[in-house]
Amino acid sequence: MAEHTPPTAAPERLGILLQGMGAVASTFVAGVIAANKGLGEPVGSLTQLAHIRLGKRTDNRNPMVKDFVPLAPLSGLVFGGWDIFGGDLYEACETAKVLEKRLIDDLEPELRAIKPMPGAFDPDYVKRLNGTAIKTGTRREMAEALRADIREFKATHGLTDCVMINCASTEIYVEPGPAHATLAAFEAALDADDKTIAPAMLYAYAALMEGVPYANGTPSLAADAPALLELADKVGIPVGGKDFKTGQTLLKTVLAPMFKARMLGVAGWFSTNILGNRDGEVLDEPEAFKSKEKTKLGVLDTILQPEAHPGLYGNLYHKVRINYYPPRGDSKEGWDNIDIFGWLGYPMQIKVDFLCRDSILAAPIVLDLALFLDLARRAGRKGIQEWLSFYWKSPMTAPSVYPEHDLFIQLTKLKNNLRHMMGEDLITHLGTEYYQES
Ligand SMILES: NC(=O)c1ccc[n+]([C@@H]2O[C@H](COP(=O)([O-])OP(=O)(O)OC[C@H]3O[C@@H](n4cnc5c(N)ncnc54)[C@H](O)[C@@H]3O)[C@@H](O)[C@H]2O)c1
Repeated sequence: MAEHTPPTAAPERLGILLQGMGAVASTFVAGVIAANKGLGEPVGSLTQLAHIRLGKRTDNRNPMVKDFVPLAPLSGLVFGGWDIFGGDLYEACETAKVLEKRLIDDLEPELRAIKPMPGAFDPDYVKRLNGTAIKTGTRREMAEALRADIREFKATHGLTDCVMINCASTEIYVEPGPAHATLAAFEAALDADDKTIAPAMLYAYAALMEGVPYANGTPSLAADAPALLELADKVGIPVGGKDFKTGQTLLKTVLAPMFKARMLGVAGWFSTNILGNRDGEVLDEPEAFKSKEKTKLGVLDTILQPEAHPGLYGNLYHKVRINYYPPRGDSKEGWDNIDIFGWLGYPMQIKVDFLCRDSILAAPIVLDLALFLDLARRAGRKGIQEWLSFYWKSPMTAPSVYPEHDLFIQLTKLKNNLRHMMGEDLITHLGTEYYQES
């Protein structure tokens, strides 16, 4: 592991720019404001609630994460961002119908004050939406307009530190092409108004050009395009992605390692979802669903390693479905049928029915990523932040390695990175201290 660079002191105020201010973004912002007013707890946030063990088990050193690493305080977060529907965040909360009206009424002045800037949009990439607040111009002009927005946001609020999180609608599935291969090709494609540059890439580009760490909460191709990774490396800025790991995939990355650890076979895994929010409507479009399907499907193969265990996992049938069902709104139902087998091949079944709330699960992830990406920048980290794989359905990695999907390995990795950053010993769980001391 490289020498550790301790992070510089946390900023008193941190700007959080949200690309897309729909259900997830508005629930996140309202939640932070509510927590600051003492009207709710940031449940689900590792940065706010978790502890981290340091040294030996006998040392009794177990500070809170937020007391161990220098993170921007909740009370110092300043919010801004873009959407294609205009309005303000009070209206966004009303549209999303995630939070109770009583709560958003208590937060009305703060939420009304946050007005999304017009988005950089192309209806070919998100087919179900017809926005009203959209930037005009070529790809280059839209990228420059986004950069100007970032500078203006910083100037208006007197900020030096900012991060950007992509919470916009999922775009159609695209493979990286020639325009995304190198930074030079990307710059040329911007100038040529090449339509293969997707809006999500414009935001990632603008963030990096302005020195703003960027994370992609959606399955869209953005900072994971080789050209933008090259840019992140060149400007020395951290990036992360992609697709928040919230409901069904969170459970999958806990259950699958258990089957593998116990050498239990898996014959099939059928996952279906019903959801009725705008995200569900966008994902009802087959090309957008394909983006989501890619990030949801990758998990099992990497965890179970069928090539090493063909008898246990070689014939696994894995299917993922998402169905738009308006009556449910944001209260999704994720249903899994898992056909497993044990001793002598005898079959068994597991059924999981997760009646969850999409944005309630995603909001704490947005918070943690914003605070950790800012920390990473202050610790001199650049490029892909693999230690944040914990938060992603499809973690970005260096091309030479496979992503780590097992939630508890991801957590160990995350905490060891924090220990390393602060010059503490890594914890390997070898458990030798008892024997050494007795
Ligand atoms: N909620 C979860 O559990 C979860 C988990 C993983 C990923 N996600 C992803 O997070 C994203 C947001 O989810 P949501 O439930 O908030 O959806 P949403 O539809 O409520 O919000 C998305 C917002 O993005 C806006 N938008 C679309 N294109 C834009 C553009 N180019 N520029 C600016 N704004 C744009 C839309 O107008 C909309 O308001 C989706 O891509 C979703 O797949 C959500």
